[in-house]
Amino acid sequence: AAEAVNLTIDAAKPGPVINKDVYGQFAEHLGTGIYEGIWVGPKSKIPNTKGWRNDVVGALKAIHVPLVRWPGGCFADEYHWRDGIGPREKRPVKVNTNWGGVDESNAVGTHEFFDLVEILGADAYVNGNLGTGSAQEMSEWIEYMTSDSKSTLANMRRKNGHEKPFKVAYFAVGNEAWGCGGNMSPQYYSDLYKQVETFLRAPKQYRPKMIASGGNDNDTTWSDTLSKQLKKQTDGISFHYYTIPTGKWEGKGASTGFQENEWISTLANTLHMEDHIKRNSEILDKNDPEKKLGFYVDEWGTWYDVEKGTNPGFLFQQNTLRDAVVAALNFNIFHAHADRVRMTNIAQMVNVLQAMIITDKDKMIVTPTYYAYQMYVPFQNATSLPVTLQNNPDYSVGAVKVPEISASAARGTDGKLYLALVNTNPNKEADVALNVPGQTIKSVKGNVLTAAATDAHNTFQAPNAIKPAPFSAAAGADGKLTVKIPAKAVIVVAVE
Ligand code: AHR
Repeated sequence: AAEAVNLTIDAAKPGPVINKDVYGQFAEHLGTGIYEGIWVGPKSKIPNTKGWRNDVVGALKAIHVPLVRWPGGCFADEYHWRDGIGPREKRPVKVNTNWGGVDESNAVGTHEFFDLVEILGADAYVNGNLGTGSAQEMSEWIEYMTSDSKSTLANMRRKNGHEKPFKVAYFAVGNEAWGCGGNMSPQYYSDLYKQVETFLRAPKQYRPKMIASGGNDNDTTWSDTLSKQLKKQTDGISFHYYTIPTGKWEGKGASTGFQENEWISTLANTLHMEDHIKRNSEILDKNDPEKKLGFYVDEWGTWYDVEKGTNPGFLFQQNTLRDAVVAALNFNIFHAHADRVRMTNIAQMVNVLQAMIITDKDKMIVTPTYYAYQMYVPFQNATSLPVTLQNNPDYSVGAVKVPEISASAARGTDGKLYLALVNTNPNKEADVALNVPGQTIKSVKGNVLTAAATDAHNTFQAPNAIKPAPFSAAAGADGKLTVKIPAKAVIVVAVE
């Protein structure tokens, strides 16, 4: 039998707090991510609260969604907030040019979005329009949302149904300025950001964290320029990285029915997140040694070829055990970099890319990714703890290798010690011997997510094909505790 992997948790050396916003979500006006997926309107037969469907919102509440980013994405740079206020029947219909060229009714606007976050008990991350907007438009949106004065805009908000200012936790100036947000250079964006941000004047107690829209993938020039030039005017720099099985935008790979070579390439590609964070953090550490700036990964997740027969502009894909493993690997990476990575948004919450929930008319199912979020809830606002792994073999297919075990530990807000483990190997279980110096471990208790097939997924016919199961293990007579983690599995346990 293979030797056990030795895992040590240094509970005496607490690291930074894992900001709950690391578990943020992203809801863009894209495909059925909002319309149909969560928003059905108050007159719908589908049970809803202020137009937001009760089944979907109920499921999202159960994973304690802390933050929602809206309205895009690429959509944000074509969104004009005044189109989305006042009586819904009078709002202009626009074309969603980024996503399928479909009609955008503007039925979901600022007030509807804040209804959603209020129902969820989440915070709001509003993405401003730099691409086709202006300093004036953004500054007036900020005033509309956050002013407690008697200004015409604040009174318009009151007339439209919200007496008190909205709480905008984060506000971003544009999105992907290097691409769909305007094909800018970092220097050009920086200059524009400085100008625009000067006019985003919210009252102190309502001031959002300001986000400068950063780079993606291997490009670190954005982090460098922005952290040098915008430090006084920004709270964080965003970053996007998507996991594509083949690593190519043309022929990304399928969401289901993949072979083992695409299982491992997906995991290997997702683990590049750590290199990206390290490279960008080194730059931030140089330009911002006092760690004022956050590094916000405000778009990440798997991106596959769309499902056959669906609108290619809707980015609709299935979600399998592989996606849950991807999510857990990323969580473990984010926790290890909690000093800088203080907020992230998976793309996206419902029906789009790596979604939590898939809907079809009045039905919904939750995905394996949903369960990964649910299992990791104890890590929200927990204090990260250093973990070391020894004797952790690689799992490999051909020349592609990934470490077999990924782990993360933290002291939860309830005082308990939590451990998350991932076994990337789909062919063999692994023994992980736990060691917490200064503590005798009696047992571990929590949940495991695994399945017989690497592409196990839920469907409307079989909505519970994959879901977590209880997991526990106890110390042996020698006082040692070894966790037997099944092949291709995610485990989150409380260590007692
Ligand atoms: O999440 C889908 C799209 O991916 C977003 O709109 C854009 O920012 C990114 O390119």
